[in-house]
Amino acid sequence: MSCETLQFNIFGMKGKIKEIEEEIKKEGLSNLKELEDFRIKYLGSKGKIKGLFGWLKEVKNEEKKEAGQLMNALRKMAQDKFDMSKETLNSSSEDENKIDLSRPSDQIEIGARHPLSLVRSEIIEIFNRVGFTVSEGPEIEDDWHNFSALNFPPEHPARDMQDTFFIEKGEKEMALRTHTSSVQVRVMEGQKPPLRTISPGRVYRNEAISARAHCFFHQVEGLYIDKDVSFADLKQTLLYFAKEIFGEKAKIRLRPSYFPFTEPSAEVDVSCTICNSKGCNVCKYTGWLEILGCGMVDPNVLEASGIDSKIYSGFAFGMGVERIAQLKYKVNDLRLYSENDVRFLKQFKAGI
Ligand code: PHE
Repeated sequence: MSCETLQFNIFGMKGKIKEIEEEIKKEGLSNLKELEDFRIKYLGSKGKIKGLFGWLKEVKNEEKKEAGQLMNALRKMAQDKFDMSKETLNSSSEDENKIDLSRPSDQIEIGARHPLSLVRSEIIEIFNRVGFTVSEGPEIEDDWHNFSALNFPPEHPARDMQDTFFIEKGEKEMALRTHTSSVQVRVMEGQKPPLRTISPGRVYRNEAISARAHCFFHQVEGLYIDKDVSFADLKQTLLYFAKEIFGEKAKIRLRPSYFPFTEPSAEVDVSCTICNSKGCNVCKYTGWLEILGCGMVDPNVLEASGIDSKIYSGFAFGMGVERIAQLKYKVNDLRLYSENDVRFLKQFKAGI
């Protein structure tokens, strides 16, 4: 707005002052550049307020005093706004200066994989390398897959070997699977030999929870079916596994045992990894640790799943993941695996 257009009476002046006042109120001073622009625009020697003072001499004498007061108030308001903004901007830039960019940052806590996941993955990898694929199945199973197809006749006392959680599901009585052999039945029913598969998974048994037993745990069971599969193949596969998981020096021994679904059956011990078979309290001074059950698949089991037992034979084995983890990491209380105590879990960070 130029001088000529202004009316130099008090009313015109008041309007102009109001206008500049509103303009000042709207100015947002968020950085030092805007602050300096503000200073030049309103308070500088060529600024709007200085300009107004210049026009004061044009105002009638009797109105000069009032006009002067209004202009001073306007200048004070602009100056106050400038001072306050300067102070806040300076103190925030001081804060910025206080940041020590050379200070090392807080360490980022990296989570750890659960020891059972680590061991499970390792077991799967070891068997993958010799051609075993992974199969999974339901945790709530019917009687056929968990028992009958595996040669447990109804009322057979062998069913007592595994205390079972039974579940009512409509008309049907179901069970929480007591082993992942149930998955092997499903594989045999669904695929034709040759079969080479492992089934990792959670299983349930009705046991009181203690350091040595739990109502759920994890297994990896293996199944190999082809023509001419022999007990020697089983033994060699398990020796390979023991050396891969416990180290080259590991030895195994097989003790005769009984499972309804395998014949002959055996339990497998590995040479004690803790004392190098010299005898310690973990191996109870025997030098051996039990790690799994195994055997040649019973012909009844092959037939129940539609596989001709005159053409095919096979072996099966099953191990507890907790047991292997216990031996690898020297964990003596099974409950630690499911309590989620961070002090326990964080010991398994990458590299361990
Ligand atoms: N299913 C058996 C168990 O849970 C383990 C096993 C599997 C034994 C395969 C022999 C053959 O104890």
